[in-house]
Amino acid sequence: MNNFVFQNPTKLVFGKGEIAKLSTLLPKDKRILVTFGGGSVKRNGVYDQVVAALEGFDYLEFWGIEPNPKVETLRKAVEVCKRENIGFLLAVGGGSTLDGTKLIASAAVIEEDAWELVLNPKLQCGNIPFASVMTLPATGSEMNRGCVISNLATGEKFAFYNAYPTFSILDPTTTYTLPSFQRACGLADTFIHVIEQYLTYTGESPLMDRWAEGVLQTIVEIAPKVLNVSENDYDTMASFMLSATMGLNGFVAMGVSQDWATHRIGHELTALCGITHGQTLVVVLPGVMNELRDQKAGKILQYGERVWGITEGSAQERIDRTISATEQFFRSLGLATRLSELGVGEDVVEEIVSRFRTRGTRLGEALNIDYALTDRILRQRL
Ligand code: NZQ
Ligand code: ZN
Repeated sequence: MNNFVFQNPTKLVFGKGEIAKLSTLLPKDKRILVTFGGGSVKRNGVYDQVVAALEGFDYLEFWGIEPNPKVETLRKAVEVCKRENIGFLLAVGGGSTLDGTKLIASAAVIEEDAWELVLNPKLQCGNIPFASVMTLPATGSEMNRGCVISNLATGEKFAFYNAYPTFSILDPTTTYTLPSFQRACGLADTFIHVIEQYLTYTGESPLMDRWAEGVLQTIVEIAPKVLNVSENDYDTMASFMLSATMGLNGFVAMGVSQDWATHRIGHELTALCGITHGQTLVVVLPGVMNELRDQKAGKILQYGERVWGITEGSAQERIDRTISATEQFFRSLGLATRLSELGVGEDVVEEIVSRFRTRGTRLGEALNIDYALTDRILRQRL
């Protein structure tokens, strides 16, 4: 087991009707900026609940943080924070709204441009405290210190790490309005967050392995019910929400190696082609598993046995069947698993490989996924 420090300060407030608790959780002595996405919260009643809970508070609203939040939009909110003396931020919506708010929180307390901050985290010097009401289970952003920011002008998308939300309210009933594609992407994102922190070396932590496998098995078990948009089941959506949070709040990462190559390659597909985050991951992961099948053999065999019940055949056969079971699961969510299905061709692969070559990118638990290996991974996913 590797050395680690675990400290997650986010207060998680979970359950039906809990948005009303905003009135006791938010600071009364600070001016608040409430941030939103494109309007889903107005259609599902979340906005009304937030406004009711904010009665008597001094607050402003900022609308329009788009999926894969763009720095161009976030700069406008940074201006509002500086001009209006904002002392607390509340993100209401999906992971993009919260991610964007995390960058706003740090960019609002420095002179430099928000994108400069993403490129050079050393510019960071504190942040406006922030919290969230999360309406989409996927990113785990509600209980981690990361955000992923896009730049429309340069076509880039990079992660940035600053601070944890003070609190996050998760009411599973807010997820009932999610369309099936977003549910599928959220299930896939959660699944692959856990995979990134699990599918590396064997034997580092049997305890973390079981926690990770528990989240993976839960996602596989609940997926058919989550996808049933016409019949929302509270306990199913609650399990989905909690799985997403537990998948990326640092818990399953304790003492174990991490990969994240699938995410880093996926971010490029989003940056270049606008493909939804979870959808990019399911295309890339089978390629990573196949190209790294020797390095990851022990863990792929363990995962195949414990999550998919694959115990028969030679090691190579079991690895093949495990990769295939993983891909079939993604297809059962209604997601594409090939680049060609998404209209992505060799030109995009070449651009990603060229970017990685220029940046000297090295990914994966062994830092051996360079531009050449990325090329092989992506070409087999065409
Ligand atoms: O913008 P609105 O109108 O609110 O609509 C959103 C958006 O169109 C809609 N939506 C959200 N909640 C809804 C809903 N529609 C109906 N009912 C609801 N309850 O869903 C659409 C997608 O929302 P978005 O916030 O973009 O999705 P998600 O939560 O999956 O966030 C994706 C972003 O998070 C980043 C991704 O890269 C991507 O930019 N990630 C953040 C991570 C983190 N902070 O730790 C880790 C992840 O790996 C990921 O990279
Ligand atoms: Zn993700």
